[in-house]
Amino acid sequence: MSKKLYITGIVVAALSIWIGTRWNTWFGNPPEPPYTTSTAPHHILLTFGQDQNSRIICWQAGEEIDRLQSLIYKDESDSTAINVENPKAILDSTRGGKVAFYSVTLQSLKSGHKYSYCIKPVGVDDAPWYSFEMPKDSQPEHSFIFFGDVQDSVGGISKSVFKHVANTHSNADFWLFGGDLIERPISCYWDLVFNDLDSIAQCKPMLAIAGNHEYLKGIRRTLDSRFGNTFQYFQTSKVGENHVYRLDYNGASLFLLDSNVDSWQLTDQADWLEKNLKNCPADNWKIVVLHHPLHSNKGAYYNLPVKWAFKSLVEDLGVHLVLSGHEHVYARYNEKEKRKDTTAIDKLPLYIDSYCSPKHYRLYFDEPEDRIGTDGRFYQKITFNEDALMIETFDAANNGQLYDKVMLDRSESKPCSVEEFGTSLDPQQVRMSDWYRTVKKPKRVKEYEDDIKKWEMSQK
Ligand SMILES: [Fe+2]
Repeated sequence: MSKKLYITGIVVAALSIWIGTRWNTWFGNPPEPPYTTSTAPHHILLTFGQDQNSRIICWQAGEEIDRLQSLIYKDESDSTAINVENPKAILDSTRGGKVAFYSVTLQSLKSGHKYSYCIKPVGVDDAPWYSFEMPKDSQPEHSFIFFGDVQDSVGGISKSVFKHVANTHSNADFWLFGGDLIERPISCYWDLVFNDLDSIAQCKPMLAIAGNHEYLKGIRRTLDSRFGNTFQYFQTSKVGENHVYRLDYNGASLFLLDSNVDSWQLTDQADWLEKNLKNCPADNWKIVVLHHPLHSNKGAYYNLPVKWAFKSLVEDLGVHLVLSGHEHVYARYNEKEKRKDTTAIDKLPLYIDSYCSPKHYRLYFDEPEDRIGTDGRFYQKITFNEDALMIETFDAANNGQLYDKVMLDRSESKPCSVEEFGTSLDPQQVRMSDWYRTVKKPKRVKEYEDDIKKWEMSQK
């Protein structure tokens, strides 16, 4: 055997062993245990339709389509109840069982009005009523809550976090999840999320984008069908298999992307984003939401396909804010030095990567960041009016304390200025979480400890 052939054999064998050890991580899925679906309406969720004046109410019931499902709703100002029979129905066959989804879209709802609804299959005498309010168009400002990855486990604290946020920021118009809302596409994790959001999801509109944990892994990844059947606005907005959605909302335009698709599908989303950014009202705040950060805390070479697809678009077409998750750290940054033109608008967008999960990955310290944090349960309140867009980051693990604040202000001049408030708040929370110390190998723990020490020295 020639030397060349011998070396090739060794390399192929080593590669095969390596791929073999990683195969399950890259392509394997934990099996979904068989489950049964209650025939009583459950997993009830309020979300948006295709514009700011429409709402979709979605629920699940039983393992086959039941034509007796119906929804009654009324505008509290006149109390005339309207019965919607024969709602849109989808039978979803998942790995562990079947579940029937139902939805009703309410159109042209009136600004400032309060609506009530009840899901009451024909023949059922009693069912709970839920209510929601349409924000007033004339409000001086609007706001929403953003959560990065949640990915909680059974017994976790998300329910109390959500309760805290709902009570503390009851005036927020809606909530938005940045992907990885669930740990795995398995029935028990969907049950967990709906249990954690119970009494909130029925009354406050919920938006979400897909994260990699909503996907079934494989040579070709596939999005768990329950995701699109739960967040039903995607049913009419998606482009091919790309779960994208745009919402123009009281002076802000949100562009929801799916960064988990195979690389070649990203060009379809880039085309969609470019077209929609170009026909967006000029004065609207432009907010892009995707799971994988375009400014990665891990370094310039992370998420390259996603960066190639979207980064120049968000920089060149006037996006103000990019929200993302996935890396399980808090990191905020906007470009200040590298761009050729240094007018304020050219320093945008503002990149915010956040998470609200019990899993705390490590921070990296080589990438430029304006404020970083870890070992918390972070979430953002984003408040906007014609003149300003303010992003406040709170830590639910620290009594909901304000952790970071930054504002884009265009009251004095256009384009807007970036006003920094984070430096006047508490020192940055950089420490190793118990989760990291417990889960990671001793070598990784030591490396991170050393990096934190170096970072602490650099801050003195
Ligand atoms: Fe993720």
